Amino acid sequence: MSAIKLLVTGGAGFIGSHLVDALIERGFGVRVIDNLSGGKKERVNPMAEFVEGDIRDFEAVKKVMEGVNYVFHLAALPRVQVSIQNPKETNDVNVGGTLNLLVAAKDSGVKKFIYSASSSAYGDQDKMPLNEEMKANPISPYGLQKYVGELNCSIFSRIYGLKTASLRYFNVYGPRFDADSPYSLVIGRFLKQRKEGKPMTIVPDGEQTRDFTHVKDVVMANILAMESDKVGNGEVLNVGAGKNYSINRIADIIGGPKVYIEPRLEPRHTLADNKKAGELLGWQPTVSLEEGIEELKKEWLS
Ligand SMILES: NC(=O)c1ccc[n+]([C@@H]2O[C@H](COP(=O)([O-])OP(=O)(O)OC[C@H]3O[C@@H](n4cnc5c(N)ncnc54)[C@H](O)[C@@H]3O)[C@@H](O)[C@H]2O)c1
Repeated sequence: MSAIKLLVTGGAGFIGSHLVDALIERGFGVRVIDNLSGGKKERVNPMAEFVEGDIRDFEAVKKVMEGVNYVFHLAALPRVQVSIQNPKETNDVNVGGTLNLLVAAKDSGVKKFIYSASSSAYGDQDKMPLNEEMKANPISPYGLQKYVGELNCSIFSRIYGLKTASLRYFNVYGPRFDADSPYSLVIGRFLKQRKEGKPMTIVPDGEQTRDFTHVKDVVMANILAMESDKVGNGEVLNVGAGKNYSINRIADIIGGPKVYIEPRLEPRHTLADNKKAGELLGWQPTVSLEEGIEELKKEWLS
């Protein structure tokens, strides 16, 4: 194993655990900090050093930063509805926790800090596709908090010279998604409902569209962001497949009965312009939604 130490915050979570696996597979030494509020210990690759800790605890954050070269910051309370119900707690984690990590990373001379940002920073926009030049317009505490994290990354690059990059993910899906939460993402919710023999619940008319991105492609974007010399000055990059599907279409691909329920606070459409990540990272999405869902159907419905 290489002596290079990488820190993955939220490494027991859905995306984080896939990233840890990929980094270990490439021979890196990986440390994980996660408080297991949403993550699961058994998901953490046994070759990684696991620290159960909270990113709101600055002393714990300083300690896990010792000897670390690169940081992938994924730990968050990542659900819109949770942020609406708990704006303060989610702010403490998503904004305060991120700031703790940035300060500790700067103080310990980390080479690069890669932040998991969110397409929710765009909120509602008049034009599609969403590109990084558009003015952020978050419509939920979560969207705002994730956006503040990006701004902090860019300020830390500008003022302190800490290399940072923010990757704005668009609806990530794939194996190990969180199917148990009432706020789980639509593909996971539908598969769970089908497995239980229930109809798929659609809000409000199913004609809203989402750009779904496979977790394998999100992992690759993180690795490229670590390796690329073209990012490090607080750049913001969309990591989205660049193709959107209506919720009705997703239900049709999965197959089965549907019911329509009350709307919630969410943007009508998302669609990533992913040219910038292509230019700066050489990143391209590789898994189509049809392939990704087929893989999940085998796991869940056969
Ligand atoms: N899943 C998506 O579609 C999506 C889209 C855009 C952005 N993101 C971002 O990607 C990142 C990972 O998302 P995910 O879907 O894997 O979520 P997840 O909930 O599966 O993972 C988040 C992890 O952070 C941990 N965590 C939460 N609070 C913590 C704290 N105070 N201290 C330490 N650890 C803590 C949780 O235990 C969990 O393991 C998040 O930053 C999220 O905002 C995700």
